[in-house]
Amino acid sequence: MLEIREGAASILAPDKGPPRGPASSSMSVFYNPAMGVVRDLCVLAVRRLQAFLPRPLRALDGLSGTGVRAVRLALETGCRYELLAANDRSAEAFRLIQDNIARNGAGGTVSAVRSDLSALLSTERFDYIDIDPFGTPVGFLPAAVRAVRHGGLLGVTATDTGPLCGTNPTTCWRRYGAVSLRSEHMHETAARILAGSCVRLGAQVDVALRPVLTQSDDHYIRLYLRAERSTPRTNRALGELGYLGPGRRTLPMDEGAPAAGRVAGPLWLGALWDERFLGGALSDLDERLAAPAIAPGELTGARAPFADGRRLARQLSAMSEEAALPAFFFELDECARAFRAGPPRLAALIDALRAAGLMASRTHFSPTGFRTDAPPAELERCFRAASGR
Ligand SMILES: C[S@@+](CC[C@H](N)C(=O)[O-])C[C@H]1O[C@@H](n2cnc3c(N)ncnc32)[C@H](O)[C@@H]1O
Repeated sequence: MLEIREGAASILAPDKGPPRGPASSSMSVFYNPAMGVVRDLCVLAVRRLQAFLPRPLRALDGLSGTGVRAVRLALETGCRYELLAANDRSAEAFRLIQDNIARNGAGGTVSAVRSDLSALLSTERFDYIDIDPFGTPVGFLPAAVRAVRHGGLLGVTATDTGPLCGTNPTTCWRRYGAVSLRSEHMHETAARILAGSCVRLGAQVDVALRPVLTQSDDHYIRLYLRAERSTPRTNRALGELGYLGPGRRTLPMDEGAPAAGRVAGPLWLGALWDERFLGGALSDLDERLAAPAIAPGELTGARAPFADGRRLARQLSAMSEEAALPAFFFELDECARAFRAGPPRLAALIDALRAAGLMASRTHFSPTGFRTDAPPAELERCFRAASGR
């Protein structure tokens, strides 16, 4: 057994996943260090949920593995829980979850459950449901949208980025009912396809879902979607579905009718971040990063270091810049090719666009990506000016 510390949790795991990239379902129960930053944001998201939903939470870590996420939610969020369940159908995982709960003294808050996730969701309702599968979450989503309570939150991971990013569009069509596209901004398109698919599934049962946080890296997409049980709000959410057209044009969907000239979709065209939710997460992060250093071994809750606090801070600060900007970011190299100009420094380009009175920001989706509302001619002018050629 490996002994691993992540956040305030100290857990035992029989194996470690790769330092980067997805783990595979052929591994027995394991701890995946590459997803530490995702669990860091999960702690902040559930803390925010409590700020918006001031009742004791019913929370479910639905595919719990080692139980590390549930233990961290117990120790680090400061939330009041009516129930915090760590569920896994594997006998080995279930035993490990029990041991890890006991090891962290979290038995008063977290309960280990051994069930098929969809079966569990068919009998209980929750304010927070976490779905972190190997690969695609689609098998669990229909049960999850039914089981989430009004005002609650779904945390959904997808690691099947091949289909979602257009490497295997047929699989994407089958799983998500949407056409994917390989392009410079494919990870954003992928996040929007996943969000769109969740919104359509929610709509089937009058649950309005809206993304409040979106986090992505090369091998995963992670969405937090706020749920409201309301038919008018569901109709409004459906109104934000549409298509991606040529040249990043967004094409609305008219009562489900496909738009002419579409190249990808249907997908979510609305905001990927709720600015209040994100702002709250950012201030919680700042507070935690500013907490005085603690002695090694003293892993008390909100003062414990994050798994990857610096990476999370970088991601959240880029998200807060990009949250209000138009969909579908640009890549420096892509523009350099199109404009036949050397790529400028990203910061210089953003400054040039802003100096011209345009909106511009980084994007957490790519270290060399940017968003802007600049029309093509203005973008080219600023790009050339910033590249000095
Ligand atoms: C990617 S791992 C979970 C990792 C964990 N969430 C974490 O943050 O470390 C997926 C887990 O889902 C469990 N699993 C797969 N299908 C399931 C099902 N239908 N019901 C419950 N658990 C399931 C597997 O046993 C495995 O432990």
